[in-house]
Formats: sequence, structure tokens, C-alpha cells
Amino acid sequence: MKVYLDNAATTQLDPEVLEAMLPLMTEQFGNPSSIHSFGRAVRSSIERARKNIAGILNAAPAEIFFTSGGTEADNTAIRSSIETFGLKHAITSRIEHHAVLHTLEHLKKLGVIELSFVNLNEKGEVDLGHLDALLASKPRSLVSLMHGNNEIGNLLDLEAAGDICEKYDAIFHSDTVQTMGHYRHDLQKLKTNFIVGAAHKFNGPKGVGFLYVRPGIKIHPFVHGGAQERNMRGGTENIYGIVGLAKALEIAYRDMDAHQAHIEGLKGRMIAKLQSGIEGVTFNGKSAELGESLYTVLSVSLPPSDISDMLLFNLDIAGIAVSGGSACSSGTDIGSHVLNELRIDENRANVRFSFGKYNTEAEIDYAAETLISLYKKESIIL
Ligand SMILES: Cc1ncc(COP(=O)(O)O)c(C=O)c1O
Repeated sequence: MKVYLDNAATTQLDPEVLEAMLPLMTEQFGNPSSIHSFGRAVRSSIERARKNIAGILNAAPAEIFFTSGGTEADNTAIRSSIETFGLKHAITSRIEHHAVLHTLEHLKKLGVIELSFVNLNEKGEVDLGHLDALLASKPRSLVSLMHGNNEIGNLLDLEAAGDICEKYDAIFHSDTVQTMGHYRHDLQKLKTNFIVGAAHKFNGPKGVGFLYVRPGIKIHPFVHGGAQERNMRGGTENIYGIVGLAKALEIAYRDMDAHQAHIEGLKGRMIAKLQSGIEGVTFNGKSAELGESLYTVLSVSLPPSDISDMLLFNLDIAGIAVSGGSACSSGTDIGSHVLNELRIDENRANVRFSFGKYNTEAEIDYAAETLISLYKKESIIL
């Protein structure tokens, strides 16, 4: 049996999305910048996609910029706002995705900004009182705090953080890659200046995403070249990706309640099975708190054992795909910067299960039972 439980890394393409993309790979091949009929047909598909995404998020089409994914959108929000507004100070947390952390650390190294880190408690929750205090001493800063953590599933109260940013005239960017398509974002209510999306996290294609920029925030172009994306990002558009992204978001919103109920049920089932099968199992961050954490992510902490090092390998042999830390850097052998921040006992093994709409209860049972039997050393390869 093959079981894919690494949906926070990426998700399977929805066949409905593929269907929407196919014409752009075949007969609609024009360059959207061309003024002839071939170009115009593709241009109108792109603009329809932009309009649909904007409509779903309660924003205007002019506020949506297509990118190559979450990383580019995060980089752009950070770099362009610092450059455009001459910001000298940024605030973030130590458990952000590297798309944010490495960008800010690079700018700090160049001497462009000073960087402060907001305090976190042992569950990785952001101390909003500390954010307030940091901003009180340096008001016009860039604040970059993620909405849903890809490793431990913690959720930030975007409205509360937005109120604090507004109070101090700060620019607020939130990495919403893990929540886009899984939670509803209403940009008339949120006070974020920038949010982002990556299609492959909600059953869309890889290599395409978007950046939302609040009106009134007039940032400089981020890729110099042609006049694409209203002069902001030069380069011929990823036309099938953009159409697939819009379709995937449309489906995600259409089916969100049913998918959330299904996936949350799977997560609860996994928690219950592991708790009854493995003595001393705990869960990192807030990930086991149903309703309080990303319903797609469960970060499991297993008691110290001599099988720890071989756990992911053995799960993989059994056909179960999970992640040990951040999936974006899985394959590398460095420990997770997120789990390190939570001061977790380094002798415990950590497994991140992340669930998607195509997972079934039978798959959860198989994965849980396999992990339990490995733990009981019934079938371990050491
Ligand atoms: C929270 C978060 N931000 C950013 C990214 C990067 O997105 P992309 O792979 O589309 O560049 C990821 C990918 O795992 C993520 O989980």
C-alpha cells in the first residue's frame, strides 16, 4: 500500500484542475503579450483567473500578482516593501519558513535592516504583547509572521496581529502558503498588506503562486523586464499554471467545509490511534489541538528509542510518505529550525503527518498501525 501523508510539502493535482489547464498546453498557446487573436485568447484566460482569485479573496484583480510560487511571493513582499519604503527594521519569528527567514537574514547581513524576533512560548505561540512592545520602540517596521506553520501547524490570529501592526503604522506581511485554500481569507477584513499563495499546496500545479498587495502600497517592480504583471514582474507568464491556480482555489473554496471536516476527522483518528498505541507519544506545538491548529498538519513526537534514526526510512519502505521536519528541505540532513526553537528533547524522533482531501481512513489506520508496530520493533530494519 502506498500512502501519501506529506500534503504540507505538496499535494496531488486535482483532475478538474488538469482539465482546466490542458487547453492552455495545446490549442491556446499564444503569448499573452501578443496583440493578435492567439495572444488575446490567452490574455483573457489570465485576466479571468486573476479576477476569479480576487473575487474569492474579496480583493480587486489589480491587487493580485502572479509569481512562481510561495517563495517568490514572500521574497517580493519583503524585499520590495523594505526597498520601496526605506524600512530599517523588521520583526519576524524564529519559526518562519526559510522563504521568509533566509530573506530577512540576508538583508540583515547586507546591513539593510535590523532584525528582531518576537518571543514564542514552548508551544511556538507568538507573544503578541512582545510584538506590541517591539513596535512601540520601532514603529514603522516590516512585520512578517506566518499564518499557519508548515511544521507544527500553529495558527496565528491574523486579525489581532493586524490590529497591532496598524496601531504602529507597520507594514504587515503574512506567509499564508499553508492556509491558502484551506481557510477563508477575507481581504476586506484582514489588515495584512501582503499575503501569498502557492497552488501546489491546495491540489493545484507546482511552480505558480501569487502575491496580494493591498491598494495604496505601491511597491517597486520585482522582476525587471517586459511589461507583464502591470510592469511589476517581467517575463512571459506561466499561463497553464495561472489557470490551474485559479481553478484549484475555486475548487478549494467550493469544497472547503466538506474537506475540512473530512481531513480533521483523519487527524483526530491518527491522534487517537497513536495515543492508544505508543506510550509517551506527544505532539509538537499546538498541532494536536483540533480547531486550534492547521487541520492538515500533525507533528508527532516519539519517545527516545534506538529506532529513531531509522524511522522515516522504515515508513518509506512500508510505502508511507511523511516528513521528519520541514518537507521543503527534506532530503537534507539538518535538523528542523522550528523544532529546535521549541526546545524539544533531541533524543525524541519527530514525524510530521500532513493530510489532504484524497486521504482515507484506511490509509490513516495503515500508517498509524505501521508506526506503532515499528515502535514495538515488530518489523524494524535497523
Ligand atoms: C509556509 C511556507 N511558506 C513558503 C513555502 C514555499 O512555497 P513554494 O514551494 O511554493 O515556493 C512553503 C512550502 O513548503 C511553506 O510551507
